[in-house]
Amino acid sequence: MSRAQIWSLDAERPALDPLTEAAQLLQNGGLVAFPTETVYGLGANALDPKAVAGIFRAKGRPSDNPLILHLADAADLARYVARVPHSAQLLAAQYWPGPLTLVLPKSERVPDILTAGLPNVALRVPAHPVARALIRAAGVPLAAPSANTSGRPSPTDAQHVIEDLQDRIDGILDAGPVPIGVESTVLDLSGTVPVLLRPGGVSLESLRNLLGEVHTHRAIRGQEVAVAQAPGMKYRHYAPEGKLTLVEGPPEQVRAWILKVCGEKDNAVERIGVLSTSADFVVPGVEMRWMGADAESIARQLFRLFREFNGLGIQRIYAEGIDEAGMGMAVMNRLRKAAAQIIEL
Ligand code: TXA
Ligand code: MG
Repeated sequence: MSRAQIWSLDAERPALDPLTEAAQLLQNGGLVAFPTETVYGLGANALDPKAVAGIFRAKGRPSDNPLILHLADAADLARYVARVPHSAQLLAAQYWPGPLTLVLPKSERVPDILTAGLPNVALRVPAHPVARALIRAAGVPLAAPSANTSGRPSPTDAQHVIEDLQDRIDGILDAGPVPIGVESTVLDLSGTVPVLLRPGGVSLESLRNLLGEVHTHRAIRGQEVAVAQAPGMKYRHYAPEGKLTLVEGPPEQVRAWILKVCGEKDNAVERIGVLSTSADFVVPGVEMRWMGADAESIARQLFRLFREFNGLGIQRIYAEGIDEAGMGMAVMNRLRKAAAQIIEL
């Protein structure tokens, strides 16, 4: 396949011409990467099984891992699900457009390849102006996973998409870095009690405020699960190339542990990187990166830092854990999934 066409456009007021050209590619069965408020997505016409198959091929994604259907408007939800429960109406009114994905029994309009043969479909209405304008211009809902090669960190900037997929897709809409940096919250509404399948841009606390009882899937905390509710959960994800050790516990103890372990290693033999929650923490002789002052800033930086360490050839990474309140839950979920080893102090 030829190289993707790349358009640069303004995130708030995207120009019409690139959107029209990108929409035409999508209507012709092509693959176009575009920014959402969470991460960049790799879009295809969700109603065209051949185009959707192209997404799995381009990403090297296992065919049993279903895709999210992206809508321009919450009003379109009823077309693609068998029924719209009251909880979905409440959530859509509160969080759409925004970083929340709902899982519901699908309607017949949704092709089986999109849901990997499952009876349920995942849907969301993204908030990014470019994403909304593109879906509108295409006139069809878009299937869109994160626009990375399967297993690599999700792309938070167009440059990451170019690194992974430029030779395998038709177009890339570049509107600069995304505002949130981790993927949407995935909430399963197909059963009697809502189940959080993936923590993300909308916090568990705020979902519980609105809905009352919300269960969390056990795969969110653990690392490996044999049988997963969200099929994507059983795969190792988001991983940097370096072996990541996540160190959890009181910050002072965590830093003392990292300092000691790094002191025992020879950075000439193995290149080491440290991801810290403190701007002042220094470990001599290793690549230090400050992840940010709060969970939101850390979410915005995390995948970019993974890729930066890849670029530097970092072979071993030590990352400090953070508090799981609010967006902290999404950050810790991504760190645990990326981790080869977890130390609890
Ligand atoms: O923020 C996001 O959600 C981004 C942007 C591009 O919208 N998309 C994204 O898609 O993260 P992807 O494919 O990388 O992750 C989708 C997750 C996977 O864990 C998948 O298994 C789960 O949603 N999922 C999709 N359809 C599902 C279904 N029918 N039932 C349960 N889980 C589903
Ligand atoms: Mg993904």
